[in-house]
Amino acid sequence: MKIAIGSDHAGVQLKAAIVEYLKKKGYEYQDFGVCSTESVDYPDQAAIVARAVANGEFDQGIIICGTGIGVSIAANKIRGIRAALCHDVFSARMARAHNNSNILALGARVIGPGLAEAIVEAYLEAEFAGGRHQLRVDKISKLEEESQKEVH
Ligand code: RB5
Repeated sequence: MKIAIGSDHAGVQLKAAIVEYLKKKGYEYQDFGVCSTESVDYPDQAAIVARAVANGEFDQGIIICGTGIGVSIAANKIRGIRAALCHDVFSARMARAHNNSNILALGARVIGPGLAEAIVEAYLEAEFAGGRHQLRVDKISKLEEESQKEVH
């Protein structure tokens, strides 16, 4: 599994902790930055990771900002992305099992590194259940296609 990881300035420290975890566990990953606390715009960082996943280069993405909200909203604007903001282990597992999520979003100002690590572990180790959940995920894709044709 190839993992793309990125954050804005608010997520730098938590990203570093998760990168250490990925390294320790032997995951193949690429860190798309940022690596300093100088202020950046979270949609830019979310888009870099989301596009790397959407184009098939990476299987999963992890994106981090202060709350996780901004990066998840932005990533979900990229076609084919199902980003899930998870701050508990159960949601992380379900995001993969039921929603076939391909990006995990985390808020560095919401949770600490210990819980974040447990969430990442649950998320990466879970598997999509398929079956009726595939039909529902297909409906999400259909909504995405339809919304691109809609004129407001
Ligand atoms: C940056 O201050 C903060 O707004 C950002 O990290 C994130 O929380 C946005 O959703």
